[in-house]
Order: sequence, then C-alpha cells, then structure tokens
Amino acid sequence: MEFYDYEEYVMTIIMAAGKGTRMKSKKSKLVHEIYGKPLVRRTVELAEKVGSQEIIAVVGHLREQVQAVLGDSVKYAYQDELLGTGHAVMQARKYLEGKKGKVIILYGDVPIIRPETLHNLISKSIKNKEYATLLTAKYENPTGYGRIIRDEGGNIKAIVEEKDADENQRKIKEINSGIYCFDIEELLKALEKVNNNNVQGEYYLTDVIKIMNEEGLKTGAVIVEDNTEILGVNDRSQLELLTRVLRMRINAEHMRNGVTIEDSNSTYIYDDVEIGVDTIIHPNTIIKNNVKIGDNCEIGPNAYIRENCEIANDVKVGSFVEIKNVKVGEGTKIPHLSYLGDSEIGSNGNIGCGTITCNYDGVNKHKTSIGNNAFIGSNVNLVAPINIGDDVLIAAGSTITEDVPSGKMGIARERQINKDKKNK
Ligand code: UD1
Ligand code: MG
Repeated sequence: MEFYDYEEYVMTIIMAAGKGTRMKSKKSKLVHEIYGKPLVRRTVELAEKVGSQEIIAVVGHLREQVQAVLGDSVKYAYQDELLGTGHAVMQARKYLEGKKGKVIILYGDVPIIRPETLHNLISKSIKNKEYATLLTAKYENPTGYGRIIRDEGGNIKAIVEEKDADENQRKIKEINSGIYCFDIEELLKALEKVNNNNVQGEYYLTDVIKIMNEEGLKTGAVIVEDNTEILGVNDRSQLELLTRVLRMRINAEHMRNGVTIEDSNSTYIYDDVEIGVDTIIHPNTIIKNNVKIGDNCEIGPNAYIRENCEIANDVKVGSFVEIKNVKVGEGTKIPHLSYLGDSEIGSNGNIGCGTITCNYDGVNKHKTSIGNNAFIGSNVNLVAPINIGDDVLIAAGSTITEDVPSGKMGIARERQINKDKKNK
C-alpha cells in the first residue's frame, strides 16, 4: 500500500468519544470489528496511509477499551461530556497549538473511506490554499445530515444541521460527511468563536465554516463519488452493511486484477491479501489476513484459509480444507477435508482427503514439514513436530509419529484381520 506525503505538515484528529448506544453492546462501538479489525483501528490505519504525521484520538466513553486497541499508535485527548463535535476537537487543542499545516477530522465509526479519496481532499486543500475543505456527498435522501449551503457562484457558505435547517435548506441534497481538512491555525481561531446557540445546544464543528467565510477565508469541497465510503456504524445492521461494502470493494479489486470469483456474495477476502492471475475462487471461501496466493490456483468451495499462508502457483485448496500458517509449494493439491497448521509442504504433492496435522499438544504449536512429490494417503494424522521427506508415500489411515525419510513409505496402522462371522 502506498503512503503519501505533502509539502505541509498533516495531522489527524479522530473522534472516538461516542457512546454507541444503538449497538446494544457491553463493548465500545469502536472496538467492534470488520474483517477481524476494530473500527477505530481501521480509521487510524487510514490516517496513517494518507500520511498523517501525528494522530490524536479524542476518547471518552469506554476509553480503556479504545486505548487497549490503539495503544501508543496515537496520542489521546479526553472528552468527558459529549457537548458537540466542535467541543470534541477543542479537547485536542494542546496538540494543535503552535503548529502550522493541515488537520484532518475523521471518526472512529466511519472506517471505510478510501485512502485515495482522503488524499485527494488533502491535496486539493493544499493546492487551492483553502482553510477548510469539506468532503461532501449528494444523497437522494439527505435526512439526518448537515446540508451544504452554497451561494449562486457555487461557493460554500455554511453547513446547516438538519435540526436547525428551514424547509428550503432541508431540500438540499448535498450533505456534510463530517470529514474535513482544515488549516490548523485558522481552525483554532474559528473554534474559539463557536457557541452552543442552536436547537441541540451543542458546540458544532460545522459552525467553523460560516465563521471562516465571515472572515473572508477561502473554503472548498470535494464531492465523494462513491457514497458508500462515508457510511458510518451506529448499529449492528450498519456494521453488516459496511462489512458487505468492504467485501464487494475488495473482491472487485481482485477481479480487476485477474482473479475469478464465482460468487462475490459468499467470498470473504480480508484486507491485504494477494492473489495471482487466473486463480479461481469458488463459493463460500474465507481468506484471512496476510495470505498470498499464486497464479492459476483453485480455491474452494468451502475453503478456509487463515492467517499467514503462502500458496505457490497451480495449487488446489479444495472443499472443507482449513489451513493456517502454511506454505504450499507449486502444483500441490489439497483437494478436500483437511486441516493443516504450522506446516511447510513442498511442490507437486497430493495431500489426501482427511489429512490432519496434529500441530497442538495443548500447550505448544509444532511444525510439520513435508518435502516435494509427497503422496499422503487418505485419513492420515501427522503428529507434529514431524518431518516427511521428498517422494514419500504415507499409507492411508496412518498415524505418523516419527519422521519419514525421503523415498520411503510410511505406514502406521493396525493390520486387518478378517474373522469368521458368529453364527446366530
Ligand atoms: C455530524 C455533523 C453533520 C454531518 C454528520 C455526518 C456536526 C455538528 N454535524 O452530525 O453535519 O452531516 O455528522 O455523519 O458536526 N462526537 C464526539 N463528541 C461529541 C459529539 C460527537 O466524539 O461531543 C462524535 C460522535 O461519537 C460521532 C461523531 O462525533 O462519532 C458525530 O457526532 P454526531 O453527534 O453523531 O453528529 P451528527 O449529528 O451525526
Ligand atoms: Mg451521527
């Protein structure tokens, strides 16, 4: 993933003090996850990707949980009472004072903005010398959002909150995403002038737009093309919706890069997965973080590829196969019903149906190593730590507890006896 840099200092404030009542959760909304990653961590990573040199999280409600997730990857400001978005930013005042440059405002519960979009916002703000640049969107149904007020020339004049808006203002379809790029010094000055004289009795961050306009400071906006980017999470349905949006976006990117996905609806590919061209992903497949899959592979249906796997070209990982922390060499087939963990498998092997690496002794995980051209028969247990050499054959039904040298056949099972049937 590329990182950006600018000719100006860029920092980010992340609002992370909210209650999240509608999640009906004992956990902070911000630590709920999309694809295994807490919402607020996603926002922090976004801020990092767009080149923030400093990130401040404004925390409040259940702050320990948010801080447990973010650790020292950010600095903290505290908001004990939720008196409004302007008030929240003011809690980070000490980090802004004395600095020149840009500050981006993001939200711990608005986690799927594309880095490119945010980069575009920052670049435009710097290039056009705007003191505030807003990320806006056009919604057919703008209910609930702050509306963007422009003059006849199209210049932005103010943001009016829905609850404070008159009938005509409510008809405006351009809405405020709540994401901005501000000039640090002018934001501080404008915030001093914000009051809570409005329907909600809150200190609105949005008021700084009008204040800047009155000072004759240039402001502008970037209209987001893909409205789904600025979606936030307030309840569990929205959590599911954002997961779906991200899923479709990630899958679409892989398809653009030459991967065939038979059913995007049932294919869950986590962030930062690499897949080579002409690989086919069959339905009901889950591929987790830090997985690399080569060209021309066949994955699924019903495959579960967990963290830290490296799969070479022309590999098959078939139905009901779960692998974790596994390296698979070129041309190897794991066609069905296997669990492989902490393993390294060479090239051109055939891992028979029902092969299991017994990698966990209840305390520690152990490694299984299998050489090239292995033929592992059906229903084999490989009790790790264990080394299986090249060109090895393991007889079906074996429980292998000792290393098998290259070129040998390993067999470890009871001999069959056929007895006479008892006469009734
Ligand atoms: C805000 C914007 C609105 C915009 C909308 C986009 C203001 C006044 N209005 O409205 O123009 O269309 O977002 O979603 O900014 N928060 C705090 N501390 C506070 C208040 C809020 O941390 O004191 C956090 C909330 O947890 C939430 C975010 O800031 O994550 C937005 O606050 P919220 O009160 O939901 O603002 P909206 O009314 O949605
Ligand atoms: Mg809101």
